[in-house]
Amino acid sequence: MRINKNISELKPSATLLINEKVKELRKKGEQVTHFGFGQSPFPIHNSIVEELKNNASNNHYLPVNGLSKLRHQVSNFLSEHQGIQRASDLIFIGPGSKELLYQSVLIVEGHFIIPKGSWVSYIPQIKSKGGTYSILETALEDNFKLTSNCLEVYLSESSHKEHILVLNSPNNPTGAIYSDAEYESLAAVCRKYKVIVFSDEIYSQINFSNTYSPSISKFYPEGTLVFGGLSKVFSAGGYRLGFMSLPKELDDLSVVYSSLFSETFSCVSSPVQFAALKAYEYSKELQHYVATSTAILDGISSYIYNELSRCSIQCTVPQGSFYMMIGFENFKILLKLLKLDTSAKLSHHLLNNYGVALLPGSDFGFKPNELFFRMAFVDFNGEKVMKAFEKGKEIDELFIKENCISIYKGVQQLIKFIKETI
Ligand SMILES: Cc1ncc(COP(=O)(O)O)c(C=O)c1O
Repeated sequence: MRINKNISELKPSATLLINEKVKELRKKGEQVTHFGFGQSPFPIHNSIVEELKNNASNNHYLPVNGLSKLRHQVSNFLSEHQGIQRASDLIFIGPGSKELLYQSVLIVEGHFIIPKGSWVSYIPQIKSKGGTYSILETALEDNFKLTSNCLEVYLSESSHKEHILVLNSPNNPTGAIYSDAEYESLAAVCRKYKVIVFSDEIYSQINFSNTYSPSISKFYPEGTLVFGGLSKVFSAGGYRLGFMSLPKELDDLSVVYSSLFSETFSCVSSPVQFAALKAYEYSKELQHYVATSTAILDGISSYIYNELSRCSIQCTVPQGSFYMMIGFENFKILLKLLKLDTSAKLSHHLLNNYGVALLPGSDFGFKPNELFFRMAFVDFNGEKVMKAFEKGKEIDELFIKENCISIYKGVQQLIKFIKETI
């Protein structure tokens, strides 16, 4: 049997592989801190679960683009809680933002631009359609955010006619958030070169200093597709519901999306769409839930940042999402002598010898010899931590030891690795 070459050349996702390895080690009784897997640790809010239960007997196919009431609700949510004006008839509901991103990759033709420090799935999705892409350089000093200058230089020299820029903020893997000013200058470059932007805003409300995150669509509405969903903000990844929105300038695409949806997934599960209505009502209770989970992630990431920075491990400044990048570039020469000269080799070394699972930066657009890693700081019991936090406890070392022991041990193991190696 012949297999489509674009697909057969894809490798199993690094996240899943490391997850398997961690399971295997834990089965053998070994202590492992899983900084590799980025799933929300918090329980889904009860109001959403109840709505799912109430609609469990609903066996109807719903409209291909999603329940009309839900599309209105998402439009209101974006307007009230994200400052984005998007018409409800240009909002589409799909089985996760990943699928909607993939369908968009299939639909929109052009050369993709991926900033170094981007989510693992963008490049495989592009490869699977036989598309082309360039990775643009970013720097730790900028928290690995793409600068307008870098984009301008690239576009002024590019021989491709059409470009699609994929931006993600709050970011997986860096935890960085683009500011309004940064977006404004990126938007000017995108407008000049007529670049289409896929703005992945799946972590939007998980912002450590605000209740939402800026969107480039505010400055470049006409060229920006916005993506979001239930998985991160509402901790409901397994519900598989995401949304995307088109600008009115691209409303011709509407029928193209509907056709592809109808020939592929038909519609998102009915009970889940009704449960999502509850989420996007965004009651005061839910806002409190999101604020609490975000404050916890903020506290944990600050603890990790302070501990690791103190022993010269580089860290991005965590601003949102559940991730940060950490780096061992300061120890590069010594690590090279130990033959630990790529992030892939060093991640195996840390897992096998220190029980710490980190994903190598090479899966996120970094060069193999750049010693950066994605750290997901969600290896804790979210329900327990929420209860402890609600009692007014401050997130300090004692809190982490009492409530997030795996994270505490993982951080201590990384410090031990530096002390023993350097
Ligand atoms: C940056 C980013 N975008 C999109 C997704 C996909 O989310 P979902 O398909 O669950 O909506 C994820 C999930 O890990 C992510 O981290």
